[in-house]
Amino acid sequence: MNSGENLPKNIILIGFMGCGKSTIGRKLEHLLGYPLVDTDQLIEQKTKTSVAEIFAKRGEDYFRGLEAAVLHELAAPDAPRRIISTGGGIIARKRNRSLIKQLGYVVWLQAPVEVILERTGRNRDRPLLQTENPREKIEALLAERKPMYDATADIEVETVGLDAGEIACGILESARYHFASGT
Ligand code: S3P
Repeated sequence: MNSGENLPKNIILIGFMGCGKSTIGRKLEHLLGYPLVDTDQLIEQKTKTSVAEIFAKRGEDYFRGLEAAVLHELAAPDAPRRIISTGGGIIARKRNRSLIKQLGYVVWLQAPVEVILERTGRNRDRPLLQTENPREKIEALLAERKPMYDATADIEVETVGLDAGEIACGILESARYHFASGT
């Protein structure tokens, strides 16, 4: 029987753009002292190119391949424990979903469309939302992705109405329980 002792004990944040993965990731980093890594940033460092530029020059499919490569690296057997914040569409590939599940405790952060629209409208660095009607795009992508987030996550967390510190504390408690019970 596998006691779970040798399984990776990262905390992985998944969820749509604008649901607070980076903010909550930073709080968890502060509380736990594990380093925070962000798959978008790792890709940008590796390629020395911005996510927007990768989408523009090579397309979304190529970008999803880079996400898969980064997940592979994070799953290296000797990798240290981390908080891993992911790009909102990383779950679009089946292989990525299974790699994410193998990395540790998977937390799905959620927010209503209104909040996503407001947060993502503040800058223009998300290529998928540079459209005539971002609300329509968000709704369509959410409908498509919800079953994939659901299939990947160990827990879902509604972020609206709580501050990032409270959310991070709740995640920490549930992660401790998850790792202690070896599930
Ligand atoms: C994407 C989300 C972005 C980034 C890219 C594509 C998506 O990350 O990976 O623009 O497909 O939802 P954030 O969720 O951190 O904004």
